[in-house]
Amino acid sequence: MASLVGAYAASHGPLLVREWEALPQDQKQRLQGAFEQLGQRIAAARPDVLIVVSPDHWSNFFLDNVPAVCIGVGETNDGPPEPWMKGFPHQEIPGHPALALHIVAEAMKQGFEPSVSHRLKLDHGVCIPLWRMGLERLPRIVPMLLNSIEPPLPSLSRCVAWGRQLASAVRSFPSEQRVAILATGGLSHSIGEPTMGAIYEDFDRETIRLFSSSERDLVSYLEENLPTHGNGSEEVRNWLVAHGAAGGRGFELVDYLPVPKVIVGCGFAAWRFAA
Ligand SMILES: [Fe+2]
Repeated sequence: MASLVGAYAASHGPLLVREWEALPQDQKQRLQGAFEQLGQRIAAARPDVLIVVSPDHWSNFFLDNVPAVCIGVGETNDGPPEPWMKGFPHQEIPGHPALALHIVAEAMKQGFEPSVSHRLKLDHGVCIPLWRMGLERLPRIVPMLLNSIEPPLPSLSRCVAWGRQLASAVRSFPSEQRVAILATGGLSHSIGEPTMGAIYEDFDRETIRLFSSSERDLVSYLEENLPTHGNGSEEVRNWLVAHGAAGGRGFELVDYLPVPKVIVGCGFAAWRFAA
């Protein structure tokens, strides 16, 4: 059977690429160090497959069709369509259809109904962390695009439940694959609304603290506070999927720093899996 060997989370703000050269040197170093540390941890976990949980930023879906969850079941996914992501080193990214279809089938059995795509474009949400982490060998990627952008959004509890469901599906996959989960997005940011550019450091730090507290406290804090702390903060849903998948393993903050130039409270984390 397959095994779940790690769960990780990282921010993915577009300005981490677009404004990279303009960042103060100390911030650039810290961000690069955090991404690389995650990359080293992932490399040490030796995953054959990485399930990447990210929103789609209008690269595959638009207002005429916004699935709550879409799982990429294709043999191949396309690299990022954004022109400013053209330096990303992979134009095509191999998927893992057998595992992805198993995840979908197991989800359906348990009352979860994801949509599927046989070929997704993996935009900056997926690819900025993969790029900045500098992985020498890219595992096969199973994308799970979770709507955390355009209301109505999946409930926070549902995201945690999705994580548990993913972990259970991985463990029942009849192949000796090592599988890890990478959640991307958050923490606080505000895009295209009157508070555009705001970073809510207190909110970010409390959210980080609560990842080590009870799930009920974490979810209820987020339910109460997400509506007033920037629309981009809703992407913390992806972290909740990883948290659910980690199934009570300890949460470890790798680094957090609010970066005004990229208008994101940048967070990096890993859950404690046995080596
Ligand atoms: Fe995003």
